[in-house]
Amino acid sequence: MTGLSDSFQRPINYLRVSITDRCNLRCFYCMPPQGIALMSHMDILTFDEIRRVAEAAAELGITKLRLSGGEPLVRLDFPDLVRMLAQVKGIDDLALTTNGVLLAEFAAELRGAGLGRVNVSLDSLRRDRFQQITGFDNLDKVLQGIERAKEVGLLPVKVNMVVMRGVNDDEIPDFARLTVEAGWHMRFIELMPFARATASLFVSEEEIRQRLRVLGELEPIVGDSGGPAKYYRLPGAGGTLGFISPVSDHFCFKCNRLRLTADGKLRPCLLSDFEMDLKGALRRGADREKLKRLIAEAVASKPECHKLGEGIVPQGRTMSQMGG
Ligand code: 5AD
Ligand code: SF4
Repeated sequence: MTGLSDSFQRPINYLRVSITDRCNLRCFYCMPPQGIALMSHMDILTFDEIRRVAEAAAELGITKLRLSGGEPLVRLDFPDLVRMLAQVKGIDDLALTTNGVLLAEFAAELRGAGLGRVNVSLDSLRRDRFQQITGFDNLDKVLQGIERAKEVGLLPVKVNMVVMRGVNDDEIPDFARLTVEAGWHMRFIELMPFARATASLFVSEEEIRQRLRVLGELEPIVGDSGGPAKYYRLPGAGGTLGFISPVSDHFCFKCNRLRLTADGKLRPCLLSDFEMDLKGALRRGADREKLKRLIAEAVASKPECHKLGEGIVPQGRTMSQMGG
């Protein structure tokens, strides 16, 4: 296997697949309050079409596959898709990003179907605040989901918190303490300023680090994580703590990923509106070789970096339509 790399010599081995634009939460920073026009069933890729893309991508050198949404667990028969993708030759890391609401219910079945691990998005540990952010009183379900995922071995379970000023930034130490008290693997994510007026909520990695000082010195965990996060450990912690800083720390130079949207567009960069239509090709009967050529073409057009610093943000889709 020679592997896949883009025109900036970055190896591309990771495909994120958004399998639905629907979600059972309404996080205010992710979706506009009026909601979004949902895709129809005809618009979204079937499980079989997703598998065909995954197989072609795996032959090109993709080894990591993550399922995201919207919320993947709201798609009917989701475990069947996991079972299909777990069998794709060459994929050795099959993961899921979920809001956790339905995770307690599905964790065991997903493990049985061949899922490797999960990331859970959780922005508050306070019940009332969780409801304010997401629109639903579901904190307990998410916490149960995290526990259940650990019990059935979907490891490591990583918890992702998007830090927002005046919304949940006072909970940074509470989340960090759980790396010591409960062995959580926590990641603090900088809010990406999308079109909506969320810019004033931004908290930089540097400031997040300052808020953590009260808990002691962060010990760096050496070795390349392979992803955008930088990892640390608090004194005595069983779990780890990471920072994902799309705004203040350009990790574009080591970006290894492609995204497939629920409606079958291959998107080489989250933050650039360029997309390659794979659904059309799939439905016109494209064979494996044709799909591989299209994927390779999309990879070749992957931009070097986003332009958030110049205030250029993607206009075409909301985060709930891209899967983070
Ligand atoms: N900035 C950073 N992360 C975001 N997410 C959604 N919108 C944003 C944004 N503007 C996160 C969700 C979830 C993941 C799928 O993407 O909280 O963790
Ligand atoms: Fe919230 Fe994720 Fe659903 Fe967006 S997709 S509304 S961030 S749970």
